Amino acid sequence: MDSLPKQIKGLIGPSILNADLSALTDESRRLLNEGADYLHLDVMDGHFVPNLTIGHPVIKCLRKNIPNIYFDAHMMVSQPEQWIQEMANAGVNQYTFHIESTTTEQMPEIIRKIKEADMKVGVGIKPKTNINVISEFINDIDVVLIMTVEPGFGGQKFMNDMMEKIRWLRKTYPQLLHIEVDGGVNMKTIDDCVQAGANMIVSGSALIDSKQRNKDIEQMRQMIDENLKTKKVNIQLTNDQFCSH
Ligand code: DX5
Ligand code: ZN
Repeated sequence: MDSLPKQIKGLIGPSILNADLSALTDESRRLLNEGADYLHLDVMDGHFVPNLTIGHPVIKCLRKNIPNIYFDAHMMVSQPEQWIQEMANAGVNQYTFHIESTTTEQMPEIIRKIKEADMKVGVGIKPKTNINVISEFINDIDVVLIMTVEPGFGGQKFMNDMMEKIRWLRKTYPQLLHIEVDGGVNMKTIDDCVQAGANMIVSGSALIDSKQRNKDIEQMRQMIDENLKTKKVNIQLTNDQFCSH
């Protein structure tokens, strides 16, 4: 896919953090051939989180090799406003920054700049942050990313108590949002995310280590779509910002 669909449906975005980063193009191509809907690219600055990964120069190279696939840049950085244009130039489609990395006053401007740069707006929520903080921005964003681990590293244990946030979001804003989950999601823990109402699933180590990625990705997507169907969450997003362009 090259943009977010206007309808809520299952979308699987592998995180390449635990892949062989020296072979990023090959690893990404493989994941896409195996059915991934988009790629989740973890950007860390060693400040907002205690780790370093890749930045816009690497993403730009990856984009040259892999056109037409939706790139979700998960910006675990202290100054999210600083990289908006660079990430857009590098070919990023969704700029997902953390609400904890900025102030309530700065939020509207960051959101506006991301949209002006023609990217979708994702807002990440760390485990200890109250979900209510997102309410005042909900009409202006495309995706809420619920972290189910403390950001910084792949391969951590899934925090089940974050499901309450997802349930609340899906119930309170049924027609507004793609809800993405990130951290410790595997073939078992995905069930809780799906039941709670998430539709965008990030999975790192579980998919990278899987011997049957094709099957796992397909099964993950089916679980989401079946759940949406049975719950009759046949959601047509009402917000115009979701129109593909
Ligand atoms: C953690 C990252 C995640 C992580 C996911 O800070 O944001 O995207 O790589 O990897 P797993 O699925 O292994 O937790
Ligand atoms: Zn991530």
